[in-house]
Amino acid sequence: MDVIEALKGRRSINFFDPGRQIDGNIIRDLLEIANISPSSSNLQPWEIIVVSDPHKKKALRECSFNQKKVEEASAVFIVIANPNAIEENIDRVLEKSVELGYIMKEDVGKYRSGPFKLYGEKDSLKRKIFAVKNTSFFAMSIMIAARGLGLETHPMDGFDEEKIKKAFGIPDDRIIPLLITIGYPIPGLKLLPRAFRRKLDDFVKYNAYE
Ligand SMILES: Cc1cc2nc3c(=O)[nH]c(=O)nc-3n(C[C@H](O)[C@H](O)[C@H](O)COP(=O)(O)O)c2cc1C
Repeated sequence: MDVIEALKGRRSINFFDPGRQIDGNIIRDLLEIANISPSSSNLQPWEIIVVSDPHKKKALRECSFNQKKVEEASAVFIVIANPNAIEENIDRVLEKSVELGYIMKEDVGKYRSGPFKLYGEKDSLKRKIFAVKNTSFFAMSIMIAARGLGLETHPMDGFDEEKIKKAFGIPDDRIIPLLITIGYPIPGLKLLPRAFRRKLDDFVKYNAYE
């Protein structure tokens, strides 16, 4: 499937085939592809919990305002943004950047200080925005790559973040920007027409905001 087709055909699917599981290798392939997503200073502030165990999906449904697709989908991804990815990832990212020829060894100090200056202190709003912004690219890549692998998805914001953190042992400092249900649609599923989209003239401006 080409990328235009993948984007144009993506829909938020409500009715997954509960009888079909996704092979674990396919999930790994999908996540490897999404992991190529771009991120600021290549800091990759995303983490993910793949929830496929039926009991765990049931527990997750209870944290997600009882949305039944959470239990019917083959798996649900708890997409996690890590505001501390700067401290956690910067040294290995820079080491690899030297090894791969992106930067010179003597410039590592300069590159190391950049993200700390740009995104401020731990716990700051800037850090949270940094983490969620970059993790959102990862999430979108998952949804597009899923289509290329013959799968469908549904992004979800309808959940109780604190409840999920407690039920799945996610540290307090992490943020859950969204869940993504993933699976195969029920056979013969008829979709409504594409949901409303604004006209480009409503929001595209050229050269200035006016
Ligand atoms: C971040 C995000 C959160 C969403 N949360 C939910 C949700 O909790 N439940 C739901 O049924 N749909 C949810 N949706 C799906 C949207 O309603 C859907 O994307 C939109 O109506 C457009 O439909 P389409 O994705 O099929 O084009 C969410 C979408 C996004 C991007």
